[in-house]
Amino acid sequence: MKILGIEHVGIAVNNFEESSSFWRDIIGLDLKVREEVDSQGVITDIYPTGNGKIELLMETYPNSPISRFLKKRGPGIHHICLEVDDINKAMVELKEKNIKVIGDHITKGAEGYKIIFIHPSSASGVLVELAQKI
Ligand code: CO
Repeated sequence: MKILGIEHVGIAVNNFEESSSFWRDIIGLDLKVREEVDSQGVITDIYPTGNGKIELLMETYPNSPISRFLKKRGPGIHHICLEVDDINKAMVELKEKNIKVIGDHITKGAEGYKIIFIHPSSASGVLVELAQKI
């Protein structure tokens, strides 16, 4: 597969008001878009940095993957997203190499990207999102 760069770093937060005071007021990033991603049970706030983005993630319902993460570990880095040129090719390659993909199919993520998540057990302990921009 061909990696085009780090698209964003996903950070789980308890609430946007608390966390945006750091990313917006202290670091000085501008919120680009707030979006609800049904397939993931999250609301995302996306802050471009000029080269890669910070994606703040808040749960939309109890027991979503983000709320389980927050309960277990508290707020913090949740995943790293790499941009790929061809998500279908990446998926085939991962399957050939017996890499564990969460959900086992390509879904639509924030900003309409086509995404998959690689399980941390197959990715040196990190939840890795692969995204193809459309
Ligand atoms: Co993400």
